Amino acid sequence: MTPLVLFHLIYPVCVLTITLNSRYSPASPPPGKVCALQSSFEPGFVAEGDYVIGGIFPLHYNQEMPDLNCTYRPSAVKCNGFDPRAFRWAQTMRLAVEEINQSKELLPNHTLGYKIFDSCAYPLTGQRAALAVLNGPNEAHSPTCTVFLILLSQISYFSSCACLSDRRKYPTFFRVIPNDDYQVKAIAQLLLRFNWTWVGLVRGDHEYGRFAVQGLLKELQGSKVCIAYQEMIPLLYNRQRALEIISQAKVVVVFSAEGEMTPFLRDYMKENITGIQWVASEAWVTASVFTGSEYYPYLGGTIGFGIRQGHIPKLSDYLQTVEPHRYPSNTLVLELWGALYGCSPSPSFSSLLPPCSGQETLLEQHSAYMNTSSPRVSYNVYKAVYAIAHALQNLLLCKPGSEKIHENFHITCLFVSKLQHYLQEVAFSIDGEEVNFDLKGDSIPYYDIINWQRGSGGKIEFVNVGLFDGTKTAGKELVIQEEKIMWAGHQSEVLVSVCSASCLPGSRKAVRRGEPVCCFDCVPCDSGKISNQTDSVDCTLCPQDFWSNTERTACIPKKVEFLTYDSLGIALTAIAVVGACLTIAVLAIFFYHKNTAIVRINNSELSFFILLSLTLCFLCALVFIGEPTSWSCMLRHTAFSITFSLCISCILGKTLVVLAAFTATMPGNNIMKWLGPRQQRVIIFSCTLIQVVICASWLIDAPPFPSRNTQYEHSKIILECAVGSSLAFWCVLGYIGLLACLCFVLAFLARKLPGNFNEAKFITFSMLIFCAVWLAFIPAYISSPGKYADAVETFAILASSFGLLFCLFAPKCYIILLKPEMNTKQHLLGKEKKQEDQ
Ligand SMILES: *[C@@H]1O[C@H](CO)[C@@H](O)[C@H](O)[C@H]1NC(C)=O
Ligand SMILES: *[C@@H]1O[C@H](CO)[C@@H](O)[C@H](O)[C@H]1NC(C)=O
Ligand SMILES: *[C@@H]1O[C@H](CO)[C@@H](O)[C@H](O)[C@H]1NC(C)=O
Ligand SMILES: *[C@@H]1O[C@H](CO)[C@@H](O)[C@H](O)[C@H]1NC(C)=O
Ligand SMILES: *[C@@H]1O[C@H](CO)[C@@H](O)[C@H](O)[C@H]1NC(C)=O
Ligand SMILES: *[C@@H]1O[C@H](CO)[C@@H](O)[C@H](O)[C@H]1NC(C)=O
Ligand SMILES: *[C@@H]1O[C@H](CO)[C@@H](O)[C@H](O)[C@H]1NC(C)=O
Repeated sequence: MTPLVLFHLIYPVCVLTITLNSRYSPASPPPGKVCALQSSFEPGFVAEGDYVIGGIFPLHYNQEMPDLNCTYRPSAVKCNGFDPRAFRWAQTMRLAVEEINQSKELLPNHTLGYKIFDSCAYPLTGQRAALAVLNGPNEAHSPTCTVFLILLSQISYFSSCACLSDRRKYPTFFRVIPNDDYQVKAIAQLLLRFNWTWVGLVRGDHEYGRFAVQGLLKELQGSKVCIAYQEMIPLLYNRQRALEIISQAKVVVVFSAEGEMTPFLRDYMKENITGIQWVASEAWVTASVFTGSEYYPYLGGTIGFGIRQGHIPKLSDYLQTVEPHRYPSNTLVLELWGALYGCSPSPSFSSLLPPCSGQETLLEQHSAYMNTSSPRVSYNVYKAVYAIAHALQNLLLCKPGSEKIHENFHITCLFVSKLQHYLQEVAFSIDGEEVNFDLKGDSIPYYDIINWQRGSGGKIEFVNVGLFDGTKTAGKELVIQEEKIMWAGHQSEVLVSVCSASCLPGSRKAVRRGEPVCCFDCVPCDSGKISNQTDSVDCTLCPQDFWSNTERTACIPKKVEFLTYDSLGIALTAIAVVGACLTIAVLAIFFYHKNTAIVRINNSELSFFILLSLTLCFLCALVFIGEPTSWSCMLRHTAFSITFSLCISCILGKTLVVLAAFTATMPGNNIMKWLGPRQQRVIIFSCTLIQVVICASWLIDAPPFPSRNTQYEHSKIILECAVGSSLAFWCVLGYIGLLACLCFVLAFLARKLPGNFNEAKFITFSMLIFCAVWLAFIPAYISSPGKYADAVETFAILASSFGLLFCLFAPKCYIILLKPEMNTKQHLLGKEKKQEDQ
C-alpha cells in the first residue's frame, strides 16, 4: 500500500492529521473486499467534535521490538522511557484545540476534537496511529480499511526531513518546521565558520538521519570540511556498535532523535570520553532529558540549531491542570507522575514505585515538563493546530484562497481535496509571526542557535547565542555572538578539529593517497619556489632573476657574484702587485748592474724586454678582478694573451740566441750574423704580431662580452665574461702554448751545450713550469664555478709569471747581489768548464 510507505518515511513520527467525523463518511469498500481490524489501538487522549484532529507524538523514547512473526496476533506494544517533553507537546495540542473550540471567531458554529496517539518514536507504531486516526472515534467501530489515506492532509510540527519536500511523493504534506535543507546549510556554515574541517557524522537509522547526512555531504562538497567518518546509531541498540562509533574526530554532528541518543550517550559517558564538541540537529538540541548535571562534563558546550521559540500565554496554567485525579484511568498521566515524582499515585499502576497522593505540586526540577519560558516544539504544535483551523474555516466558508480556484471546486466544495488547497493558501499570524507554507509545504526557515551551558545547580541550560535566517541573502544568514558561547570541556576558546594542521608559508599541501583532502602532509617548497600563504596548494616559481629565501616564503633578488675585492680578490691583487714590484726590482737590479758580466752575457736587451713583459703579465691579472664590463671583458684575454706572447717570444728569441751562439763557435757557421739584435727584434715582433692579429680578429668578429650566467647555480647570477668565440679563445691559448712548447723544445736541445752559464737549463725549467701550470689550468678552469673560473685564470697567470721570473732571474740575482766575486766572465765560463768536466 502506497500510503504506508508515506508514513514509514516520516521521522520523527510527529504529525497532526485531520479527519472528518460526523459530517462525512467515506465510500464503502468494494464488495468482496471486506477487511476487518485485527486489534484496536487506543488513543491516549480523545475528544469528540465535528472535526477531529489527529495528533501523533513520541510520548515514549523507544519501544521493544515488536514481534513480526505475522503468524499469530502480536502482543500489545510495549513502550519504554516516558518523555515528559513530548507529553507537553501533546498537552499543547489539547490546549490549542480547546482554545479554538471556544473561540467565537474561529470555526464558530463547529466543534473541534482531537485524538492523540503515542508513536513510541517508532515508525511502524506511527503508521498504526495514523490509520487509527482515520477510523472514527473508536477503532473497533469502523472496520473500514480506508483508501482515503492518500488524501489525508498532514501538518508536521517536528518532521524536518528534506525528503518530505518532494511534492510528487507527498502531495499533502505541510510543516511548520523548516526543511532540513536549511538546517544542513546552517550546520555547514557553522562548521566553516569555526574552521572545523575534520568532523564525524552520526545519524539515527531512519530517513530523517539519512537525508540530513546526504544533504550535509552535498552542502560540504567542495568546501574545506572533510568527514572523518559517518556512522549510524543502530535502530536496535547495540552497545558494541555504539562504542565503535565514538571515535577520534573532535567535532561530531549528530542527526538523531533524543530517543536513540539516550542509550548511545549513556555508553559514551560510561567510557568516560570527554572533550567532544557535539553539533546537535534540531531534533535533540533542546532535549530536556539531557539537562541533568551529570551530563554537563560530556555534553556541555553542545551547539546546534533549534527551532524558533515562541510564546503560548496559557500553556503554563494548562499544564498544571493535568493531574492524576482528573484523569484517573489515563496511564500516560500516571506515567508522567512516575517520571516527575518517582512515585505512583495509583496502586494498580505500578508496584515498583512508592505510592503518593497525586496532588504533589510541580517543582522547579520538573522543568522538562513545566518550563514553558521558551517553547519551541510546543509552539510548532500550537501553530500547526491553528493552521488547520484557519484552513478549515476558509474551507467551510467556501472562501476562495488568494489563488484562483477551479470552477467545479466552487460548486461541490469537495472537502478533502479542497482542504489541501486551503492549507496551501493559509496565511495568518500568531504572536506576531506570519505562518504560511511555500509550494513545497515548507515554512519560513528560521533557527535559533542554541548552546548548552552550565546553569544553576550544574544543570545544562540552553542559551540562545545567535540565529540563522534563511530568508537573508547568502552569506548573511548566520549571526553568531561568539563571545557568549561556552565550548565543550568548559572552554571559551574555539576547539580545533582538523585532520592535519595547516601548512605554514614555505610549504605546500601534499594530499595523502587514499585519504580525504583534509589529511595532508606539508612538503617544503623546492628551492626557487615559494608559498607565502598558509595552506598553499602549490608553490609558485619565483620570477626570473629572483630566488626563494631559505624559508621559501618570499622571492628575493638573486645574489650577483663576480670576482671582486673580497678576501680572494684582495689576495690575488696583492700577489699581482707584489709580482709586478718584484719584477721591477729585478729590472732595477739588472739596470744598475748592466755592465757586469752576467747581465752582458745574458743579452741585456732581451732581459729587459722579458722583465717588462713579465711586469705587464702581472698587471694584466688585475683586469680579471672587479665587475665585468664590456671593456674589461675585451681587455682581459687580449691583454693577457698579448703580454704572454710577448714574454714567451722574448724567451724564444733568447733560446735561439743561446742555440745560435753555440753553433756559431763551430767553424764555418756564421749564424750569429742572422741573429743580430735587429733580427731578434723582428722575431719577437712578428711572433707577437701573430697573437695581435688573432686578438684583433677576435675582437672584431665576436668579442668577449659580459654575461649573466644563471645556469650554473640557480640561486645566483654569476657575472662573467663570455668568450664570444671559443675558437678564438682556444686559438689564443693554443698559440701561447705553441710558443712555449717551441721554446721548451729548443731550450731542451740546448740544455747540454757547454760554455754558456747553463742559461738553456733555466729556460727549459721555466718552460716546464709554465706548461705545467697551463696544462693544470685547463681542467681547473673548465670545472670551476662562477667567479672561481676567473680566479683560476688569474692564479694561472700569476703562477706562470712567478715561475718565469724565478727560474730565469733568481740565479742571476743571486750572483749579482750575493756572489759578486763570481760575476766575472772568466769565472762564469770557467765554472762552466769545470762543471762540464765533471
Ligand atoms: C513464527 O512463530 C512460529 C510459531 O511460534 C514459529 O514456528 C516460526 O518459526 C516463527 N517464524 C519466525 C520467522 O520467527
Ligand atoms: C468543544 O465545545 C463543545 C461545546 O461548545 C464541548 O461540548 C466540547 O467538549 C468541546 N471540545 C473540546 C475538545 O474542548
Ligand atoms: C452560526 O450559526 C448561527 C445560528 O445558527 C448563524 O446565525 C450564524 O450565521 C452562523 N455563523 C457562521 C459563520 O456560519
Ligand atoms: C578560521 O580561519 C581563518 C583563516 O584561515 C581565520 O581568519 C579565522 O579567524 C578562523 N576562525 C576561527 C573561529 O578560528
Ligand atoms: C573520568 O576521567 C576523569 C579525568 O580524565 C577522571 O578524573 C575520572 O575519575 C574518570 N572517571 C571514571 C569513572 O573513570
Ligand atoms: C526555564 O528555562 C529557562 C531557559 O532555559 C531558564 O532561564 C529558567 O530558569 C527555567 N525555568 C525554570 C522554572 O526552570
Ligand atoms: C604572495 O605572493 C604573490 C606573488 O608571488 C603576491 O602577489 C602576493 O601579494 C603575496 N601575498 C602576500 C600576503 O605576501
